[in-house]
Amino acid sequence: MKITKICCIGAGYVGGPTMAVIAEKCPHIKVTVVDLNEKRIAAWNDVNVDNIPVYEPGLGEIVGKARGKNLFFSTEVDKAIDEAELIFISVNTPTKTYGTGKGMAADLKYIELCARQIARVSKTDKIIVEKSTLPVRTAEAIKSILDNTGNGVQFQILSNPEFLAEGTAVEDLLSPDRVLIGGETSPEGQKAIEALVDVYANWVPRERILKTNVWSSELSKLTANAFLAQRVSSINAISELCEKTEADVNEVAKAIGMDSRIGSKFLKASVGFGGSCFQKDILNLVYISKAFGLNEVADYWEQVIIMNDHQKRRFSRNIVQTLYNTVSGKKITFLGWAFKKDTNDTRESAAIYVADDLINEQANIGLFDPKVPFQQVLSDLDYLETRSSEENQKYINSFENPYEACKDAHAVAILTEWDEFKDYDWQKIYDNMLKPAFIFDGRNILDAAKMKEIGFVYQAIGS
Ligand code: UDX
Ligand code: ADP
Repeated sequence: MKITKICCIGAGYVGGPTMAVIAEKCPHIKVTVVDLNEKRIAAWNDVNVDNIPVYEPGLGEIVGKARGKNLFFSTEVDKAIDEAELIFISVNTPTKTYGTGKGMAADLKYIELCARQIARVSKTDKIIVEKSTLPVRTAEAIKSILDNTGNGVQFQILSNPEFLAEGTAVEDLLSPDRVLIGGETSPEGQKAIEALVDVYANWVPRERILKTNVWSSELSKLTANAFLAQRVSSINAISELCEKTEADVNEVAKAIGMDSRIGSKFLKASVGFGGSCFQKDILNLVYISKAFGLNEVADYWEQVIIMNDHQKRRFSRNIVQTLYNTVSGKKITFLGWAFKKDTNDTRESAAIYVADDLINEQANIGLFDPKVPFQQVLSDLDYLETRSSEENQKYINSFENPYEACKDAHAVAILTEWDEFKDYDWQKIYDNMLKPAFIFDGRNILDAAKMKEIGFVYQAIGS
């Protein structure tokens, strides 16, 4: 089966970049990305590629090249489904905020809506690919909906989880460590797998394309994220111990990272991990483990999240304690709001929780982030429902440039590791702050000796 038309439902952080790269690498395939959100689609179609809704280094260029040739962004969902031989489902699967599994299980309502829509519209056989991160056995649910509500059309469901990390999405998509495709063992299932393999093989070496059964593929995605998050929580746990002893977490990380069995990646102590995947995926793992009565397994993984919550809280508590146990009415400037550098995504960013804690203490937060719009910051805080939107707006202000943001502040807190923060004129920032001037470096990116020389009281994580 040769794929000539692909549809992707969901034009977000996963769907947008992934389809842009497929379109660029497969000029013979027409790729249409659809979304219900008209504003988002309009932004993807903006003539100025700097205005596309997802900020990723290198993405604008690729979109600019392929868009209008074989890459299209549209709100005509039915039409794109009808035309395509292969459909990626890339819609959001947030943690449930109601009912059974509240705060833990993934909310699959958007996935189900997609499946029902595909079943209703399809007139020809199709391959459906789960791209969104999903709990194990979701493919089974999608299949059941498609087979029972469709009009006799044959569907094959594949799991093809996305391993791209935000901020490096284009790089990760262009040269992935591996591409994972899970499908049924039946001859039809194998044929569907091969059709998708042929798409990726346009630029990914075939030995890096792994074929598994559906459940292994779904579980591998959750496991990969759980292992990565566990490394961050492990080093963060050690960071607290370092602060109580004479050890330095950067030195410890370097020393253990050079052990080839451990490896050097994902050992940066920080104010805590964020992003749309880690917490959600671990919660999914915990939830299914509990559902099978595997309480020890569930507790083991849940501890990764407990440690992460602790790390965020510890950071805000330390700011309050260091500023003489009160931050009420004090200006504390946040540099960074995104959950990591090189992205405008803020989902589960540590900054949100640290700000919420400090607002509880009546601090005035000044903010500068190079890519996150202030509207997003407010909506992140409002989403916590700790206080009214009007209250939040009283306590947080955003600034056009970092120097204005830091002016008259008691303290600067670094929440995201944006490269530009390192190159600021820190002497100038110091001169315009209240004294003593404090820096709380939640990402260990500044030169401690230099900051102390300027006169700052400088505190980093784990030293
Ligand atoms: C992650 C996975 O890496 C990716 O494979 C999967 O597809 C989606 O989830 P992402 O959430 O985009 O990607 O970013 P990632 O680079 O994994 O970082 C997650 C969080 O951990 C960030 O908040 C980051 O700042 C933090 N982190 C990461 C650390 O605090 N220390 C580290 O050493 C590494
Ligand atoms: P991710 O990080 O997984 O890409 P996003 O929230 O960035 O998540 O993107 C998911 C997108 O899916 C959103 O733009 C949302 O509007 C879109 N979406 C959700 N449900 C549907 C649906 N039934 N049809 C079309 N688009 C949908």
